[in-house]
Amino acid sequence: MALIWTDDLAVGFGRIDTQHQELFLRYNRLIEACRDGKGREQIATMLDFMIEYVTTHFAEEERFMTLYRYPEREAHQKEHRELFAHVQQVREELHERGPTVGVITSITHTLLHWLIRHVKQTDIELARFLVANAA
Ligand SMILES: [Fe+2]
Repeated sequence: MALIWTDDLAVGFGRIDTQHQELFLRYNRLIEACRDGKGREQIATMLDFMIEYVTTHFAEEERFMTLYRYPEREAHQKEHRELFAHVQQVREELHERGPTVGVITSITHTLLHWLIRHVKQTDIELARFLVANAA
């Protein structure tokens, strides 16, 4: 299932929104490759690419949290670590088993669930704080 970017997903802090949109784009490309049966190598490369982007994006959010002494920093970082652990696990499954239906479902569920939930709740709270404190 493709992720369509809509305005209600915008957190209202420019840099973070731009990165989220890119994340959605990469997720959609990954899902498309899975759907088209593009093969283990290509899917693995795209997943690696996405993991790298997630890592960069998290580092950026965490930099803002530290810089502006965000009070919910620890809880937010914990969610980042959890997603990272999930994605690493999916990557290992992909390397071991290839793009099976189970692995693809795992990729879809993990990323889809997390992206929507984290962006719509945790990141919106952070963005509100940044808009109020980082002007
Ligand atoms: Fe975040």
